[in-house]
Amino acid sequence: MASDLAQALLPWFRANGRLLPWRGSANPYAIWVSEIMLQQTRVETVLPYYARWMKRFPTVRSVAAAPLDEVLRAWEGLGYYRRAVNLHRAAEIMVTQYKGRLPTSMEQLRRLPGVGRYTAAAIASLAFGQDQVALDGNLRRVLARYFDLELDPRSVQGERKLLTQAQPAVPAGESSSFNQALMDLAAAVCTPRAPA
Ligand code: ADE
Repeated sequence: MASDLAQALLPWFRANGRLLPWRGSANPYAIWVSEIMLQQTRVETVLPYYARWMKRFPTVRSVAAAPLDEVLRAWEGLGYYRRAVNLHRAAEIMVTQYKGRLPTSMEQLRRLPGVGRYTAAAIASLAFGQDQVALDGNLRRVLARYFDLELDPRSVQGERKLLTQAQPAVPAGESSSFNQALMDLAAAVCTPRAPA
């Protein structure tokens, strides 16, 4: 039996979820690239960069084979350039250690440069269907309100509490829709100020 939260969210997401180019993709590489670009950066800003990037670098191997200069040039304008350096290094690691593919476990994902807990959980959920909560700033806000959290949702204790409460609410096998529904709810309705 799905949780009340999941039962409310999933139909809302089917009707109101954004159509984004990396959604509906079963390509873990595409999801990884989108998640790195979306760190600290708005969806609307990312869209043209993502489209150009995927044309220029369609695979992990194409990133690893490119000189860093070229990778940085494709990133120009997005900011936080360390992300591009880390993408390049992570692509090299995937080629040498994982046959040019993304690793699938949270532990392996987290060992990649540029991949923290949130990004590892997002990839595990969106690309590999694992029942992980991808707790970024937006999800912290939505879930802190939903669960009426008394702790600061950005604190370590707040994060731990939210994960403990949200993890059982994840509908088995549907964490990707669950997480992305919360992202879209955060962007469209449950905004930081004056939430609708
Ligand atoms: N922010 C981070 N990942 C996202 C996704 N998959 N969809 C929308 N916003 C996001």
